Amino acid sequence: MNNLSAPVLEVQGVHKSFGATPALRGIDLSVSRGEVLAVMGPSGSGKSTLLHCMAGVFTPDIGAVTYRPDASDARSVGINELGETERSRLRLEDFGFVFQYGQLLPELTALDNVALPLLMLGVRRKEGLERASVFLEKLGISDLGDSRVEGLSGGQAQRVAVSRALVTEPAILFADEPTGSLDSLTSETVLTLMLELVQSSGTTLVMITHDPRVAAYADRDVVVRDGRIGDR
Ligand SMILES: Nc1ncnc2c1ncn2[C@@H]1O[C@H](COP(=O)(O)OP(=O)(O)OP(=O)(O)O)[C@@H](O)[C@H]1O
Ligand SMILES: [Mg+2]
Repeated sequence: MNNLSAPVLEVQGVHKSFGATPALRGIDLSVSRGEVLAVMGPSGSGKSTLLHCMAGVFTPDIGAVTYRPDASDARSVGINELGETERSRLRLEDFGFVFQYGQLLPELTALDNVALPLLMLGVRRKEGLERASVFLEKLGISDLGDSRVEGLSGGQAQRVAVSRALVTEPAILFADEPTGSLDSLTSETVLTLMLELVQSSGTTLVMITHDPRVAAYADRDVVVRDGRIGDR
């Protein structure tokens, strides 16, 4: 079987409500290994909730999310069957995250921010910093390693955020409007770099965007409407 088309994540019948508000109302979605998937749809339609369910941040009320769903895969796992500690570990080891506002630690340097997930995984500091600097270089910001994040521009900070999300070499990168806070030129630069990196490493990318120009970079797009995968 062609490994590239094998599913890496499968969402089946997922429902999720917040109190009386239904955010997801029966989502089925399969993501292939190495695929770049754009998730589009109006504000409040459930995109972020879906991303968080896919990444094991939220637990669905009903339904299942399976990582490496191929039954012959020894690492196949129902994410929602894991306890909180195991899910955190899975997120740290196998997934990367980029959000609209980078969620970096403003008082640390760019290099320390990028090294952080490696240190959390038990990598020694020296090796962590070395591996982090490789990613700063890949994002074209090696000169910013010693700069505190609070002094960076939006585009620079997003490059740091992308470096940090990819430094652990995740199987899946989840991005929630990763360039939503940037002007269109900066957005294009950050996006192109991120796509080059995920495509060259075979990383799967699940990316929420409002912007059809951003979605045009994806292999496939789905539209979420009222908590369901809808028609365009
Ligand atoms: N933590 C929460 N507590 C309560 N309600 C929530 C929470 N998160 C989301 N919701 C509700 O769930 C629905 C879907 O929200 P979600 O954030 O997934 O939408 P979205 O498509 O990502 O929107 P946007 O494009 O504005 O980011 C909305 O009605 C929202 O108000
Ligand atoms: Mg959202």
